[in-house]
Amino acid sequence: MKKSCKMLAGTCLLVASALTLQAQSTRESFDNNWQIQLDTANNYVPSNLERKPWKNVQLPHDWSIEQPFDEYSPSTNGGASLRGGTAMYKKEFTIPASDKGKHLFIDFDGVYMNSTVWINGQELGTRPNGYISFQYELTPYVKFGEKNEIRVLVHNHQPNSRWYSGSGIYRNVWLEKKGTVYVENYGTYITTPEVSRQQATLKLQTKVKNTLDKSVPVEVKTVIFDDDKRVVKILTDKFTLAAGQLLERTKQAPIAAPKLWSLDAPHLYKAVTEVYQGGKKEDTYTTSFGIRSFHFDREKGFFLNGKSIKIIGVCMHHDMGALGSAVNYRAMQRQLQILKDMGINGIRTSHNPPAPEWLELCDKMGFIVMDEAFDMWKKKKNDFDYHMYWDQWYHKDLVDQVLRDRNHPSVFMWSIGNEIPEQWGGDKDTSGRTITRNLTRIIDSLDNRPTTAALNDPKKDNNIARTGLLGLIGVNYHHQGWTNLPKEFPGQKFILTETISSLQSRGEYLQPADSIRRWAGFTKDKNGGTPDYVCSAYDNSSAPWGSTHEESLKRLLKYPFLSGMYIWTGFDYLGEPTPYPFPARSSYFGIVDLAGFPKDVYYLYQSLFTNKDVLHVFPHWNWKPGQKIDIWAYYNHADEVELLLNGKSLGIRKKTGDDLHVSWDSIPFAAGSLKAISRKNGKVVKVTEIHTAGKPYKLVATADRSTIQADNHDLSFVKIQVEDQHGNLVPYADNLLHFSLSGDGEIAALDNGKETDLRPFSDKQARNAYNGLGLAIIKAHNSKTNLKLRVTSEGLQPATVDIEVE
Ligand code: GAL
Repeated sequence: MKKSCKMLAGTCLLVASALTLQAQSTRESFDNNWQIQLDTANNYVPSNLERKPWKNVQLPHDWSIEQPFDEYSPSTNGGASLRGGTAMYKKEFTIPASDKGKHLFIDFDGVYMNSTVWINGQELGTRPNGYISFQYELTPYVKFGEKNEIRVLVHNHQPNSRWYSGSGIYRNVWLEKKGTVYVENYGTYITTPEVSRQQATLKLQTKVKNTLDKSVPVEVKTVIFDDDKRVVKILTDKFTLAAGQLLERTKQAPIAAPKLWSLDAPHLYKAVTEVYQGGKKEDTYTTSFGIRSFHFDREKGFFLNGKSIKIIGVCMHHDMGALGSAVNYRAMQRQLQILKDMGINGIRTSHNPPAPEWLELCDKMGFIVMDEAFDMWKKKKNDFDYHMYWDQWYHKDLVDQVLRDRNHPSVFMWSIGNEIPEQWGGDKDTSGRTITRNLTRIIDSLDNRPTTAALNDPKKDNNIARTGLLGLIGVNYHHQGWTNLPKEFPGQKFILTETISSLQSRGEYLQPADSIRRWAGFTKDKNGGTPDYVCSAYDNSSAPWGSTHEESLKRLLKYPFLSGMYIWTGFDYLGEPTPYPFPARSSYFGIVDLAGFPKDVYYLYQSLFTNKDVLHVFPHWNWKPGQKIDIWAYYNHADEVELLLNGKSLGIRKKTGDDLHVSWDSIPFAAGSLKAISRKNGKVVKVTEIHTAGKPYKLVATADRSTIQADNHDLSFVKIQVEDQHGNLVPYADNLLHFSLSGDGEIAALDNGKETDLRPFSDKQARNAYNGLGLAIIKAHNSKTNLKLRVTSEGLQPATVDIEVE
């Protein structure tokens, strides 16, 4: 093997790519050149599907996001009023004759749902679970040197989900080629049983398979690289594999002065495992991992590398707003970055295994992930949901999830389910205990992270909790009861698996701010609501089972035994638009709206959990003369805030006790300037000023990235702001914006964060602003020509943005 090896302070530096140059095995994207036949009727009628025309399609692909919003969609507005249906995907491909003798696999990261796969007419299998990754071996059916055809039938029969699922091959597909002896799929397991700053013990378990019909000597070599691509260890192993044998080998080695994975410095290591047989490299398998220690303490909560950390996490569904569910690395990275900038340190993948890239990003960016398996077991939540497949599939699905995800340093706990109906039933129906035993047994046989379950109001008689098999008692909501948890479950450890469910529309401020409202079901007479179906952005309304942000946050911070919480939700998501009916089609629960624009409460978290100076004052300052307005401020790093209206002080406010914001109530509106000044020891920390905006005058467009890759995936998110003549955001502006793009790229989607906007996401040319903002998501194709986005609106000065493509 050719090595590039330099000596530096006694350490052998070896460049990772040099190792893989000669790899016999490959893993390449299989996302191009697919075609689809689509029938969005709910029932699968083969002859109807066969009559549909074939259309070219690029994976990852979500056909539901391309549909019009449909009040009568079987998915209901819980599923964003977007239809599922049935599709056949097909792809023709050639495998060179020179690959004969290799083993070929197709990997699907996720297909929603009920997929059946064929190669050259030969069925490979069916997988009902829409969130699980799965692999089929193609070798026996591939025609080498000739054309082959893969077909994938997908059936999303709604209703089967309480939120927007998306439909189709919505995650990446890969083609793997391996030699005759190779590392099994998910065949490495890297743990660090002992970790200190001085040394870590690395334990590497590797499953190697011999596909030959004779016994052969095998050499396995694993090179461990740190994140500077420095070789820190080489482990070698020699053994004999019998014909067809699959064997797990374990190696242990010390790593001196390990670079620990932490939330602020998420150092990653890479293990590159090479399998040799007869002197020939047959396989290269790369595993990313991190070295860190953690534990949950029953009195003091969560510790990472010995340091106490309160988990301030959010629950996230898998959609990326206007882009739907089709996996996009940059879109996921943006979501996580926005959350990180707010001070969030944890993610719950509610209520299913995420895309593999999501965990990769959590590893790289430093999040404490709760990796969740199921939203239901055998008892259904919807007529066509996973309960139909439970008996046959739960075992395999859970095993595959744990095997796939257990090397990720960001994963800290497994959740066996969310609000599972089997938790109830007491001694009459004990199925919940049996299933809990089965599921925890599966996880414990594969990994030693704690297992939890998101329980509704857990009490002693809860059939999941009472098994005593949960490493962490998971609690959804019921903040008034948290104080009793240690009494209810003596000696147990706790995680708040889901909290809050507060309801807010960005930029909507219903007066007054101080009356708290709990509401879920919308009934025109009883609950009122607003005619335009908005929720107030003051932190003052929630679902009845939830709380305002402050109510839960104050309690969480009070009890050290609570290791943390996962807030429902980080971002708004498609579907579940509690409390409103259609045309509401996306949620109000997010701290950030569907388009990625923060709601005001974002700055509450930022003020508490980041080092940034925060002084966030709201609402906007465009009201009727004399109208009484409540003004709130979130701030930090200061003792007090003074508010001035047109230069006249409205008084100084200070947070006292456990206050998390200050307010000036019933201030009669007068147009002009509202200026807040925060001070510490009399010294100004920050000044925030809001002006009454005049009429919409111009558009201002700002790209989050002015340079993107020519790879057909990378995105630039362009924020469009409607401003008055003086550059103030016009807070009520809903002007119709028109978009056009020049250069070799496309407008991937448009959004504005409005929960009731029924303009289909397939419209890439126009969308109204919502409360002054709009969003255009721009994608480059494969050529390096620069892009120019132009945004116009009748009567307003247009905006342009240049995006460089490299
Ligand atoms: C929870 C449930 C979530 C979501 C949320 C809305 O009970 O676990 O999936 O439905 O309510 O408040």
